[in-house]
Amino acid sequence: MSLLLTNIGELTTNDADLGRRHDAALVIEDGAIAWIGDADGAPAADSVVDVEGAAVLPGWVDSHSHIVFAGDRSAEFEARMAGERYAAGGIAHTVAATRSATEAELSANAIALRAEAARGGTTFLETKTGYGLDIETERRSARVAREVADYVTFLGAHVVPAGMDARAYVDLVRGPMLDALLPYVDAIDVFCEEGAFTVDQAREVLLAGRSAGLQLRVHGNQLGHSGGVALAVELDARSVDHCNHLTAADVDLLAGSATVTTFLPACDLSTREPFGPAREILDAGGTVALATNCNPGTSFTTSMSLCVATAVLQMHLTIEEAVHAATAAAARSLGHDDIGVIRVGARADIQTLAAPGISHLAYRPGVPLTDRVWKNGRILA
Ligand code: NIG
Repeated sequence: MSLLLTNIGELTTNDADLGRRHDAALVIEDGAIAWIGDADGAPAADSVVDVEGAAVLPGWVDSHSHIVFAGDRSAEFEARMAGERYAAGGIAHTVAATRSATEAELSANAIALRAEAARGGTTFLETKTGYGLDIETERRSARVAREVADYVTFLGAHVVPAGMDARAYVDLVRGPMLDALLPYVDAIDVFCEEGAFTVDQAREVLLAGRSAGLQLRVHGNQLGHSGGVALAVELDARSVDHCNHLTAADVDLLAGSATVTTFLPACDLSTREPFGPAREILDAGGTVALATNCNPGTSFTTSMSLCVATAVLQMHLTIEEAVHAATAAAARSLGHDDIGVIRVGARADIQTLAAPGISHLAYRPGVPLTDRVWKNGRILA
């Protein structure tokens, strides 16, 4: 069955040759994009959707989230808004609640968040373990993550759990915990920060993950100059995420590497950390992605549109750069070049907006503009 989307006011493709087109149409067949061109030259198809001048763009690729958890941390959020600074220690509250939750409870919460993300236009979602910190709860979290997400990351090295020595915990994570989670995960990640893991500890964990065949991701330079960025580049990680505190040397290092710099602006709003230098990285030739970091501690939102609007309004990206960062660049950080882009042969993961163009995503911030969403050519929301 083929589907023609026609009367597209503005089509954002993220493809260098196709660009941002007006009065366009596209055909979806077998879950992929089969044709793109001018609306008045569109071929016949089995069914037709007239989008009446709306904008069409790739579905969001949320490359950083932590949606497998239990419990609520709104009191911690209120304390932060009253002036307290975020510290890694808050993670322990979610760990306690997650350990006490059943797999069905974790699953129900994650499914609800995944559905909320889909309604907001997210067609591809990464999520992590990291609120179990023991083999049994990490494995349970990974099973749930595999069920709800498109890409799963092992974050046993989130913080050292209470009552454990750091050396013993690093050995657990890179040994038996990694072995137990391998069947469920695509990547390994470490929170490299004061209060979490040092550069040397992070390197040990990441190297064990790489030997096991996993892709590498790093939480780096969120709260200070942790060294996480340099480590991510040294190990050729797919992505280093947060990056609030970067020196000029870090910017040069990232711009000259294949590691994608992922900024999490919703987290920065909720923790009142300074926004990272996305403009500088782009100007220096680097690749920038945007993601929600949805989690109960630092960023309890699934809204990629909020991240895109904030990147434009506060971080000085153009709307095209911000959309690219939240789609094609994020996909690249997950090792995919067939999503986040609208070109013949790409997966039909797309969204329409109740707006004539992508500039409305920042021009009308906070308005839920995503209208219809397809994943692999099927209606998702
Ligand atoms: O990405 N930075 C580390 N991990 C999460 C926060 C987790 C939490 O506080 O629960 C983050 O912000």
